[in-house]
Amino acid sequence: MKTKLDSIRAEVEKQIAAADVPEKLNEVRVKFLGKKGELTAVLKGMKDVAPTERPKVGQLVNETREAIEAMLEETKKKMEAAVRQEKLAAEVIDVTLPSKKNQVGHRHPNTIALEEVERIFVGMGYEVVEGPEIEYDEYNFEKLNIPADHPAKDEQDTFYINKDIVLRTQTSPVQARMMESGKFPIRMLSPGRVFRSDEVDATHSPSFHQVEGLVVDKNISFADLKGTLEVFAKELFGEETKTKFRPHHFPFTEPSAEMDVSCFKCGGKGCRFCKGEGWIEILGCGMVHPHVFEMCGIDPNEYTGFAFGVGLERIALLKYEIDDMRLLYENDIRFLKQF
Ligand code: DAH
Repeated sequence: MKTKLDSIRAEVEKQIAAADVPEKLNEVRVKFLGKKGELTAVLKGMKDVAPTERPKVGQLVNETREAIEAMLEETKKKMEAAVRQEKLAAEVIDVTLPSKKNQVGHRHPNTIALEEVERIFVGMGYEVVEGPEIEYDEYNFEKLNIPADHPAKDEQDTFYINKDIVLRTQTSPVQARMMESGKFPIRMLSPGRVFRSDEVDATHSPSFHQVEGLVVDKNISFADLKGTLEVFAKELFGEETKTKFRPHHFPFTEPSAEMDVSCFKCGGKGCRFCKGEGWIEILGCGMVHPHVFEMCGIDPNEYTGFAFGVGLERIALLKYEIDDMRLLYENDIRFLKQF
């Protein structure tokens, strides 16, 4: 019996040594320790052993079984360790390799220009207010003294959602909303996207940005308007910048004006940049029309105010000397990287 057990053990050892994967080990286990396994067969043969011999033989069988199990277990652990080692080796990171260059994002010229405009006006006590891009005709036009037969209402310029709702063509409707809120004084700046059904070219886009300004209080005069916008121009384009107000017409202001700044390239002498003019137009402005006050529920005898509207793209193009507005919308990384 002892020799039989020893030969089983030797055979197991041989087969384990030949096993290269855990599945093979399992086959060995089944072959020797399984229900129909060789060692199990020996156990089953115990009935033929003399009763006095049984405890001794039983012990031998058990020892063999334990020895086989221990061998199987140990080999299995070794195999698993080898697999782990292999995996780790495959995952090794060479820390001496040069790193990939990180692409750092850039702020869009429009964003930089807007932050600059906001910084200037917030510094003068203005609050930044947002209005809806989808707006009632009533706010976009009617309350701004733009009656139904006004050329600006022509379908050519305005995207209509239905006869009462439009994509706002200007940020001016935020003025009406602020005035209706009835909280005074008002010192607001309202930047945002506006829409007009224009063909795309170097100076036009169906969607662009404006920044609206509105001040309403008692005793606000045209002198306040001029002083404020002069400070704005100097802050934006430099201390030596001169301003010029030319009479103009906007339906919602009276009187109205356009403000030019002296060309910051040539200082006003006239150059290619200002098309020989020496001056560059940058915004529209004026004193809030009494009729607009009335439509927004404000007594024009008690309150006065001024308003202005700046094209944000225009500021960005001027500041960075970009000559085609389309560059601002294409988001070509090679262009944006410069800012
Ligand atoms: N909303 C005008 C436009 O889109 C710009 C403008 C002009 C706004 C004069 C104003 C203003 O508030 O007073 O052309």
